[in-house]
Parts: sequence; structure tokens; C-alpha cells
Amino acid sequence: MKKQIYICDPKIIGKDIAERMFDAEKYELHFAQTKLEKEDDVIAFCKDADALIVTDCDVTQKVVDSLPNLKYVSGAIIGFNTIDLEATKKAGIPVSNNPRYCTNEVADHTCALIMTLNRHILQLNKEVQEQFLWTRGQSIPAEKVRRLNTQTLGLFGFGAIAKAVAKRMQAFGLTVIAYDPYVTKEQAAPLNVEMVDIPELCKRANIISIHMPHMASTDKMINKSLFDMMEQKPIIVNCARGGVINEADLAKALDEGKVMAAGLDVVADERISIKKSPFIGRDNVIITPHAAYYSLDARIEMQELGCKHIVWFFEGQKDKCPIVNGVK
Ligand SMILES: NC(=O)c1ccc[n+]([C@@H]2O[C@H](COP(=O)([O-])OP(=O)(O)OC[C@H]3O[C@@H](n4cnc5c(N)ncnc54)[C@H](O)[C@@H]3O)[C@@H](O)[C@H]2O)c1
Repeated sequence: MKKQIYICDPKIIGKDIAERMFDAEKYELHFAQTKLEKEDDVIAFCKDADALIVTDCDVTQKVVDSLPNLKYVSGAIIGFNTIDLEATKKAGIPVSNNPRYCTNEVADHTCALIMTLNRHILQLNKEVQEQFLWTRGQSIPAEKVRRLNTQTLGLFGFGAIAKAVAKRMQAFGLTVIAYDPYVTKEQAAPLNVEMVDIPELCKRANIISIHMPHMASTDKMINKSLFDMMEQKPIIVNCARGGVINEADLAKALDEGKVMAAGLDVVADERISIKKSPFIGRDNVIITPHAAYYSLDARIEMQELGCKHIVWFFEGQKDKCPIVNGVK
């Protein structure tokens, strides 16, 4: 009997990619043609499903109760809030997410922001393009332009993206230090990264890049008390989540020169108009619109992994699946 796989969000997984990832002799694929707005739409579409691939359609208690063959749910994106993790857990159905498809892109984007700010590229470009000035860089005080291999990069969070950033920036000769309560000195040493506490990171780092998740314990964690400890007037880059920074405190730290510049791919509330952001209109701030994850390669890898997790599950390689609801 072929396993019945339901791709529940239209357009998220290309037909060509899904057909390449699933052996047609073992799996039968079903693609939603329209968005499944309600749980009843999901139930009606997926009745005999062995596995689902979803992004933002409802997998509620009722859906779990109504799909008797359901054995696996593959979340194709990193975070989701439409899957009832408790209900699936109680039913013994593993749910995976897709945390690794854009690690390289976010690391590249982080380094691009660091390099652009460190070399003052935006300001120099503006002088030339808008003011027709040819300053040979002398418009910028020399103390604000530092050779990268004299600089220390401090990473908040030392997970997958931070490690990829460390590797890239070490190639430019930076010293890398990190704070992460869940990573030991011994684990970081082979990567030539020194684990430090928060005060030391703030004291030493010329460039600070943020890579921890946003949750209750990290909400507004980068705030005035930390900016006050930053002795090097650092560049701060955030490609994690806006909520980990107290934005009002960062704006003030920029005003007071405690922070030299900021590169932000994320803001605390992405639903309100960016016009209202305290970071608009500043020469020393770059904002990109939560775009760090984005590339053709990431888009393809996201789709491939969303499928692969199901294949791995059914073919005895469950340990490779990033299960998020605790089902062993
Ligand atoms: N801008 C984008 O497009 C984009 C894309 C993907 C991920 N992200 C963000 O990047 C973050 C990091 O992603 P990742 O793949 O490296 O995740 P990861 O899980 O591999 O690493 C996160 C690290 O943060 C550490 N951490 C947890 N609590 C901490 C704390 N209080 N202080 C310091 N460190 C702490 C964890 O121990 C872990 O090592 C994600 O949480 C996500 O918010 C952004």
C-alpha cells in the first residue's frame, strides 16, 4: 500500500520537487489547490493521510482525531503556531520543523551587514551618488574605520547561524567571543571561539551580532544595562528576532554614541508600519525587511527538507528528523 502524503498549503512545495523527493512506487502525493482555511477543510482534504506537509494550516485536536492513519506532520518552515503540539504528542504523532534550510543565507546576510557598516559603504556611496563628493573616505573620522583583523566579534547565542558567522568572520581575521548559556568552553574551543559572560562580551566586542531565539527569557534582553557596559562603541547586528532588543534603548544608545551603528534584519513588531520605527532616517542604521533567510537555494532546500523529513521517518531514519513535539 502506498503511503498517502498530503501537501496542505498550495504553492509551498513545488510539484516537480515533491515528485523528485518521493518514490512514486511507495508514496502517493496530493496537493491542495486552494488554501485550507479551516480545520474542517483540512479534514475533508486529508482523510486518509499518512503524513502531512504544512506551513500555516490548522492541525488541531479535531484534525488529529479525524485522521485515523496520520503518522507524521512535517512543518516546512522554522516556526509555526497552527499545529497543536500537545494534541499530536498525545496521539504519538511526531511533528518536525525545518530549522536549517537558511543557515547559510542568514550567516551571509549578517556578514554583509557587518562589512557594510564597518566600511561605511552606505555613507560613502551616498556622498558620491547624491552629493557628487570625492572625499577619499576622509569625511569619516579615522577612529570609526577599523581594520577588521584588529576587531573582536561578540556573538549572543552560539547555535548554527552564529557558528556559520564565526567561521566567515574568522576568515577576515576577527577574534570571536560568544555568550550562550547552553554551550561550554570545551565545545567552542575547537572552533577558536572563546565563551564569555555577558559583561565581558559587552566590554570587549567591537562588533556584536545577535543569534539567540526570542522567548520570554530573551525578550528585550539587549537593553540599556548592556549598552551601558559596551566600552568599544560597537556595531550591533540583529538577524535573529527584533524582540530580543529593547528598541527604545538601542535608539537612545545610537543617539548617545554608545553604539556606533546598527544593522537590523528584524524589528520587534513587524505588523506596524516601518515608518514609525525609531531606526528610520538614520545614516548609521541599515534595515532590511526580514530578508536574511531568502535565496533560491534556501527556497529549494526548504521544500526538499519538508519532503525528506517524511521519507526519513518512514524509512527508518527518524533520528535525522528535527522533531519539535517530543515524540520519540
Ligand atoms: N532573519 C531571518 O531571516 C532568520 C532566519 C532564520 C532564523 N532566524 C533567527 O535566528 C535565530 C538563531 O537561529 P539558529 O538556527 O542559529 O538557532 P539555534 O537553535 O541553532 O541557535 C540558537 C542558540 O541560542 C542559544 N540561546 C538560547 N537562549 C539563550 C540566551 N538566553 N542567551 C544566549 N544564547 C541563548 C541556544 O543555546 C542556541 O545555541 C533563530 O532563533 C531565529 O529567530 C532569523
